[in-house]
Amino acid sequence: MAPDPLQPLSPLSLDTIRSTLATQAFGRRIDLHDRIDSTNREAVALARAGVEHGTVVVADSQTEGRGRLSRQWFSPPAVSLYCSIVIRKPIGAEQMAEWLSWLPLMTALATAEAIDTIAAASVSVKWPNDLLIAERKIGGILCESGTVARSGSYQIVGLGLNVNGDRNDFPEDLRETATTIRHETGHPVERNRLLARFLHELEACVEEFESRGSERLALAYRQRCSTIGKTVKATLTDGKEFIGLAESIEQDGTLRVVQRPLPIDGRPPDIQRLRVADIIHVRT
Ligand code: BTN
Repeated sequence: MAPDPLQPLSPLSLDTIRSTLATQAFGRRIDLHDRIDSTNREAVALARAGVEHGTVVVADSQTEGRGRLSRQWFSPPAVSLYCSIVIRKPIGAEQMAEWLSWLPLMTALATAEAIDTIAAASVSVKWPNDLLIAERKIGGILCESGTVARSGSYQIVGLGLNVNGDRNDFPEDLRETATTIRHETGHPVERNRLLARFLHELEACVEEFESRGSERLALAYRQRCSTIGKTVKATLTDGKEFIGLAESIEQDGTLRVVQRPLPIDGRPPDIQRLRVADIIHVRT
């Protein structure tokens, strides 16, 4: 019998992705690779060569998957999603900083919405853009940006999602903190449909930002964000650590953290507004 193209563990296929893709620009061009070093690296190269807005690079496996803060991204074949999207938007200079802060956050939001819809899982976001189920990481986002004299500025949104793998297959250092959607929900997820839905959700978020700015995105993001209200340990860009209560996400996407424990001498607590940091949730 011919395999059903929508079977849960079917391979990534352009026809199957296109059969449920409901976007205008995202995915008009999709480059699907069986194996690649890094979809982000390839997307940067394509962007610099002038490819159109919305071009998507997808791979079944990566040999040099890149994570945030120069980490590696575990990228085995057949079970996960690795994709990068080239974004070119005529954002004015005055809105550029806000756009660059919101892009990773709206990508996390779009991913969580897509997983909810396709996998019926309850996904939360750890600020800024880690995707969690039951406080374990199922995915991450790496955004890069640049400018080329000929074709102007571009942003790359890279998404890695642990979809159908077995938790025991993670390298030992990840086993405690990482998990897969399949492990958490008990059922496999069709990667082609998940990718198509993610592209749809992300395109909608980008349109929302363009037409109304970040206000409604911020509301939706705050509802998804499991960091708010938690005590967090933040490693700052200079390597220093700061422990505090994550109070809120500001309108510019920064995380406001108030020092904990409070100073005993009555001094006001130190407050950090974090734009870039590595966060650990310490407790609720
Ligand atoms: C993180 O460290 O949490 C971000 C991980 C981002 C990984 C994805 S996989 C697809 C894309 N290509 C890469 O090399 N990295 C991103």
